[in-house]
Amino acid sequence: MKKVIYSMLGAGLLCLSSCGGQTQTEQTPAVDKSSAKNQVIETIMTRRSVRKYLPQPVNRDTMQMILDCGIHAPNGQNKQSWAVRVVDNPEFINGITEVYKKLNPKMAEDPGFKNMFRNAPTVVFIANDTSYDMSQIDCGLLGENMILSAWSMGIGSCCLGSPIRFMKTEPQVADYLKRLNIPEGYELLYCIAFGYPDESPAAKPRDASKVMFVE
Ligand SMILES: Cc1cc2nc3c(=O)[nH]c(=O)nc-3n(C[C@H](O)[C@H](O)[C@H](O)COP(=O)(O)O)c2cc1C
Repeated sequence: MKKVIYSMLGAGLLCLSSCGGQTQTEQTPAVDKSSAKNQVIETIMTRRSVRKYLPQPVNRDTMQMILDCGIHAPNGQNKQSWAVRVVDNPEFINGITEVYKKLNPKMAEDPGFKNMFRNAPTVVFIANDTSYDMSQIDCGLLGENMILSAWSMGIGSCCLGSPIRFMKTEPQVADYLKRLNIPEGYELLYCIAFGYPDESPAAKPRDASKVMFVE
């Protein structure tokens, strides 16, 4: 019921603000924090980057749902300017990790180290269309949809940039890069590790002062 009242209020306020009425600041009622038990907000606020996973890859039906949420993200002109590749083949993940370990022996000394994708059994690689200036934004939104939908179903994730740097610059892993079959005109941008969490990390602090209303 509360929700209905809020949406009615919201519609009225939208009209007031767009019809040249008083400013939203004067009109909008503050959200009652006790009613903020909203599943989307809950998912956003409880999500953490996970770097320890159970060994089994994410069930493919579940992964399909996560990917579907990804491609339903807002994107510039509905160009869907991304290319997405899912790898849950241990031979791929372990093979590339072996090269990484040879070149970065210190990293592999950590007793918890399983692979270079923060130990995840499933990795989604995302490439952007280099001919479209908004493509990286599309790819970021796609990823966040996947990360949040995954978390809402108990699947952990970690957005990763450094394995991509390695893959793009290390000639010894060129074959793995080739296997991703990234289309002409697209470039690997980042990847997201997914898996069933085997840790519950604490929240990292955020700096709220970076955000301001401009009057
Ligand atoms: C563009 C980007 C690149 C990232 N690259 C890495 C990475 O290479 N390795 C890693 O462990 N985490 C990486 N992260 C995860 C961040 O470290 C993490 O999101 C941040 O510390 C905040 O923690 P939280 O996600 O638990 O809130 C990356 C995140 C983003 C958005």
